[in-house]
Amino acid sequence: MILAIYGTGGMGKDAYQIVKDYPTIPWEKILFIDDTREEGMEQDCEMVVFETFARRYSPEEAVIHVGMGESINRLKVTEKVKALGYKVVSIIHPHARIAEDVTIGEGCQIKMGVVVGSHTVIGDGCVLQSYSSIGSDVKLGNYVQISAKCHISDNVTMEDNSFVGMHGCVSEGVHVGKFAIVSMGAALFRDIPEESVCMGNPGRVMGSNTTHRVYN
Ligand SMILES: CC(C)(COP(=O)(O)OP(=O)(O)OC[C@H]1O[C@@H](n2cnc3c(N)ncnc32)[C@H](O)[C@@H]1OP(=O)(O)O)[C@@H](O)C(=O)NCCC(=O)NCCS
Repeated sequence: MILAIYGTGGMGKDAYQIVKDYPTIPWEKILFIDDTREEGMEQDCEMVVFETFARRYSPEEAVIHVGMGESINRLKVTEKVKALGYKVVSIIHPHARIAEDVTIGEGCQIKMGVVVGSHTVIGDGCVLQSYSSIGSDVKLGNYVQISAKCHISDNVTMEDNSFVGMHGCVSEGVHVGKFAIVSMGAALFRDIPEESVCMGNPGRVMGSNTTHRVYN
């Protein structure tokens, strides 16, 4: 089976580093897909545009990991490749400590040192960056990003496409609405609505995320 990593930015490169350092699956070939660059090499792999990839490899021959940081892009690209029959796969660092009864959706990326407590549900396309801790009975919707060194307490619910910046903390039982942003370093003690941007300690809603983007 062939593994294609869709995206050559930080998240795509991180995915490659994990599968290269820990070859738990004997991939026949690993390649990158990037539609914004000229075909060539990335890391020590071939890099092609999606059209070339799809012409060469059928959904029976290849699976895809979408390695894109902006969740709305991850969602759109995942929908595109799935509509053509390709399966999207998760990449999970072997040094993440995930309780046995945790449910993990497809197309997630879980980095080194992540700890996830029991009975937590992680949706599709989520990104859990290095050394974050996620408590027990947490519900992460689809395409949620938890950045590096965040702490998400027990019973928190984070709706689809919500985001916590580096060193952010979310207290027990808090509800974070769809496309909401908890900024870098914020400590959130109260529920925040859909599309809100919350900053500071204690976290307060200071703006709105109507563009549905974190990285401008
Ligand atoms: C929340 C966030 C998206 C806001 O970005 P933004 O809309 O571009 O905000 P700006 O930089 O224009 O700042 C707007 C105001 O909020 C303040 N502010 C920005 N980030 C803040 C933060 N984390 N905590 C407190 N105040 C903050 C700014 O100082 C500025 O105040 P001012 O108007 O008085 O000068 C950004 O701060 C953030 O946290 N990004 C995530 C970074 C990250 O963790 N990346 C992870 C990569 S894996």
